[in-house]
Amino acid sequence: MRRILVTGQGGQLATGLAESLPAQGFEALLVGQPDFEFDKPATVIAAFAALKPEAVVNCAAWTAVDAAEEDEAGAFRANALGPALLAKLCAEAGIPLIQISTDYVYDGLKGAPYLESDL
Ligand SMILES: NC(=O)c1ccc[n+]([C@@H]2O[C@H](COP(=O)([O-])OP(=O)(O)OC[C@H]3O[C@@H](n4cnc5c(N)ncnc54)[C@H](OP(=O)(O)O)[C@@H]3O)[C@@H](O)[C@H]2O)c1
Repeated sequence: MRRILVTGQGGQLATGLAESLPAQGFEALLVGQPDFEFDKPATVIAAFAALKPEAVVNCAAWTAVDAAEEDEAGAFRANALGPALLAKLCAEAGIPLIQISTDYVYDGLKGAPYLESDL
C-alpha cells in the first residue's frame, strides 16, 4: 500500500483525504500541529524522516485570510517557507509533492492558466 504523508491533520482537506485515501488503496499518514509545524522546521524534517512517505499532499496552510493581513510574516512562513521546505525534502527523496492551492487568490478573469508570478 503506497504511503502518503498528509499534512494539516484535523483540517478540512486532510480530514477528507484521511477518509478517502484508504478506499483508493493508499495509506494516509496524517501529521499535524504541534508535531508537524512549519514554524518549527525541525518538526517537519523529523516527521518526514520518521515516516518515510512515498508521496506528500500538503494540506497544512494558513487559511485565515483576514488574519494573514495582520501577520504577513506568519502567513508567509506557513504558506511559502514551509511548503518550500517540504518541496526540498521531497525533491531530495525523489518523491512527488502535491501542493493544494485555492481560487481565492485570483479573480479568474485572466483567461489563461495562472503562474506563481502573477499578482
Ligand atoms: N477546504 C476547501 O474547500 C479548500 C478548497 C480549495 C483549496 N483549499 C486549500 O487546501 C488547503 C487546506 O485547506 P483546509 O480547508 O483543509 O484548511 P483548514 O481546515 O484551515 O486546515 C489547515 C490545517 O493547516 C494547519 N496549519 C496551519 N498553520 C500551520 C503551520 N504553520 N504549520 C503546520 N500546520 C499548520 C492547521 O492546523 P491547526 O488546526 O492546528 O491550526 C490545520 O490542520 C489550503 O491551502 C486551502 O487554500 C481548501
